[in-house]
Amino acid sequence: MNKAVIGLQWGDEGKGKIVDYLSEDFDLVVRYQGGNNAGHTVIVDDITYKLNLIPSGVIRGKVCYLGQGVVLDPKHFSKEFQQIKKKINDPQVFLSSNISLILDYHKQLDKINESILNPNKKIGTTSKGIGPAYQDKVGRKSIKLYDLKSKKILEEKINAIKKFYDPILDNFNELKVNVEQTVQDLLSFYDLVKELIVDNSSIKKEYKNKKILFEGAQGALLDLDHGSYPFVTSSNTVSSNIVIGSALQVDYKTIGIFKAYATRVGNGPFPSELVNEIGDYIAEKGLEIGTVTKRKRRCGWLDLVSLKYSCEINRVSELCMTKADVLNNLSEVKVCKSYNSKDYEDINFSESNILDSLLLENNDFEVFPGWGDTKDLSKFEKLPDNLKKFINYIEMYLNIPIKIISLGPERNQTIIR
Ligand code: IMP
Repeated sequence: MNKAVIGLQWGDEGKGKIVDYLSEDFDLVVRYQGGNNAGHTVIVDDITYKLNLIPSGVIRGKVCYLGQGVVLDPKHFSKEFQQIKKKINDPQVFLSSNISLILDYHKQLDKINESILNPNKKIGTTSKGIGPAYQDKVGRKSIKLYDLKSKKILEEKINAIKKFYDPILDNFNELKVNVEQTVQDLLSFYDLVKELIVDNSSIKKEYKNKKILFEGAQGALLDLDHGSYPFVTSSNTVSSNIVIGSALQVDYKTIGIFKAYATRVGNGPFPSELVNEIGDYIAEKGLEIGTVTKRKRRCGWLDLVSLKYSCEINRVSELCMTKADVLNNLSEVKVCKSYNSKDYEDINFSESNILDSLLLENNDFEVFPGWGDTKDLSKFEKLPDNLKKFINYIEMYLNIPIKIISLGPERNQTIIR
């Protein structure tokens, strides 16, 4: 059966490690949305792999595919691909010819967009040009990978882009679009990657009866439609976007992945946030620094209300919990079990006043006694009783089994039930 690994929180749930772990049993590992706003670090045999676009299945030598729903920055991809080639012999990476590209002006527009918002309304984007690149896709202006074959088409399209965006760029004292340079850069990029570009139908045919693992990027609560808009990313991160973003019309089972606590980078509501020394402790112990932006992540207790919502919108059938080891040796651990607000029993992001309603002090928490240490434990039966109670409570609340428990960054720190 094909599987999808989908983040259930605000990203950074540890998808990279789990996709690496699971990919052993799959033939193809696929990204279907997002761009190099994602990022993960996977450690295998003391070698550290830093990946943003390429699925972590590449570490096991699996064939990796970036589907049409991804936005790809040529400059970034060239660097990432070169880096991975230094560590892996002949990495098998393919790109859908229908991918939309991120160009320099998208990054400039991302910056402009943030600069015009009030400080408390800023999204806190990764500044990678993601939003403006998806805007161009929806606005039917994107440069697609398939355009790179023709200098004439590139010149035509980039000239139109220049007409459209130069007045805005100029207004904000940003450099205008340089058509000649952009075309030249894209043609050089094409020389580098033309062997990797495939069309949707050929990949579909080739992997028709093979096993496919889908790697989600970001998390369900950052989904453009289901998340806390406008504090979201610009793609649909949920599993129902898989078929569109990969163009592979297959069935799959969804593994929802979450951390034993919660983190968020950037602004937006965070009902279980800990703005205190426990939050700082978790951030430090869990190395909660953004891989892409190097920003310190906001930390809080696990929020079961939003987790339940994420499980529903992703049709999750099994769960993976990561980083419970970060909470080792705390005297107590909490989980948010209800929003004690008369307006919001449930999470409902389609209300404009949601941001004011999800305050921490309004919410109800279940308190668990600490569970000591999990060091060197590789069997579920051996886990401390208090951790088992924590796991059991989450399973009962969500009515979904936790089948994978990750207790550290290494492959062998993974328990399968
Ligand atoms: P953008 O995707 O760069 O437009 O950023 C929009 C929001 O999504 C910001 O709050 C970012 O911090 C957040 N974001 C984007 N990608 C990731 C990710 O991979 N992990 C965590 N947060 C992310």
